[in-house]
Amino acid sequence: MDVDIGNALASVASPGVSRASLERLDERVADAHERIERGMANREHGYEALNLPERTDPDEIRAAVDPVADAEALLTVGIGGSSLGAATIANALEGVEPRSTGSRTESDGTETVFLDNVDPAWVSRKLASLPLEETAINVVSRSGTTAETLANFLVVRDAFESAGVDWTERTIVTTGDSGPLRDLADRHDLPSLKVPDGVPGRFSALSAVGMVAAAVCGHDLEALLEGAAAERESLSGSLFECPAYAYGATTYALDGRGAGTNAVMPYAESLETFAEWFAQLWAESLGKDELGQTPVRALGATDQHSQLQLYRAGPRDKLVTFLTVDDGPDRSIPETDVDDLAYLGDSTLGELLAAEFEATEASLAAAGRPNVRVELEAVDEYELGGLLYGMEAACVLAGELYRVNTFEQPAVEWAKKATRGLLGGGEFEEAEAVAEKTELR
Ligand code: PA5
Repeated sequence: MDVDIGNALASVASPGVSRASLERLDERVADAHERIERGMANREHGYEALNLPERTDPDEIRAAVDPVADAEALLTVGIGGSSLGAATIANALEGVEPRSTGSRTESDGTETVFLDNVDPAWVSRKLASLPLEETAINVVSRSGTTAETLANFLVVRDAFESAGVDWTERTIVTTGDSGPLRDLADRHDLPSLKVPDGVPGRFSALSAVGMVAAAVCGHDLEALLEGAAAERESLSGSLFECPAYAYGATTYALDGRGAGTNAVMPYAESLETFAEWFAQLWAESLGKDELGQTPVRALGATDQHSQLQLYRAGPRDKLVTFLTVDDGPDRSIPETDVDDLAYLGDSTLGELLAAEFEATEASLAAAGRPNVRVELEAVDEYELGGLLYGMEAACVLAGELYRVNTFEQPAVEWAKKATRGLLGGGEFEEAEAVAEKTELR
């Protein structure tokens, strides 16, 4: 990925960051980079995620999914980091042919469905829409204890049984070494993969957690990892030489100058889920000790007709992160005999989208609103691997600069324990705290 921070500099934006401040910050980036490299070399918790391009084994993933490789649909049951990476990859690559010329498989049009929430009507609708006898199940939970995932899996299992379909023939499990989900996989002898040690959920997209769905769809796993590896190679001790660190350091600096909101606006439908993945990565990793930027999801050009008004003329408390794609399929706009519309007939939808982006970027810059452009050459496995890895590295760097514990998520764990406790799934002080509060009402 390429990162252009020109419109985030103080000379064009307010709040903006001066080149001199970034040069001073670069000394801290160099220290942080050393810390990150050390963490990676020692395989420390969290930093280990940045080693995934070398550690993930595509053959192991393909072997595990082999029994369901011909499925027409894949139902992934997981939540948070156990869903969003897989959904980002699958949704971005839907219909994309692999860029490599080698012997790898072709994407095969498998429908991917993600079951994360436990809204009963929504779950029932999703299940009713699937041809169960042609559907494979991909259950993912690092801890193996998350109530939403386990409950949804039990519901899915029951739906398969009611339809007379043997779910044990069609299920792959990805989880840790132990826990209820591991027990269940062992009991039914299900094909299973392990969530790598030291890799928190939201940093696991480039492991089996995020790549099983891609494998079932026939996407090029090697290219995903090669793109990530190229980004890993670009990590260096200076934000001026490393796109990922340029992004992490600039967002950190802007936050300190009042840009507490980061609106992520891809100009590609295929990257809409990426904005969701990014929101989790940024919020859950950096939202600590009363610090952290609030991520907001937007989509170009759609949100030019809603949120853009606020971004250009509302409070000066935002950064807009644009994502653009240089090359992709296009479609010409048919000519018309209406004179006022003749200009459209000379263009394509891709050209229109590019013009929308350029106009929006320029309009924010003209209004002195900071924005950063992240550019991809195309939406394909290689570029996507680089994007996911680059943003993870940016987040790890930002965490070092904020001096927060990027890899823990105590607030998320609090709510998970409270939920289980309230349903009688164990003795948790978090659940008692909720019960006391409810009684006080
Ligand atoms: O990033 C995280 O740690 C969380 O978002 C988890 O991925 C999420 O809570 C799901 O946890 P698990 O994979 O244990 O089911």
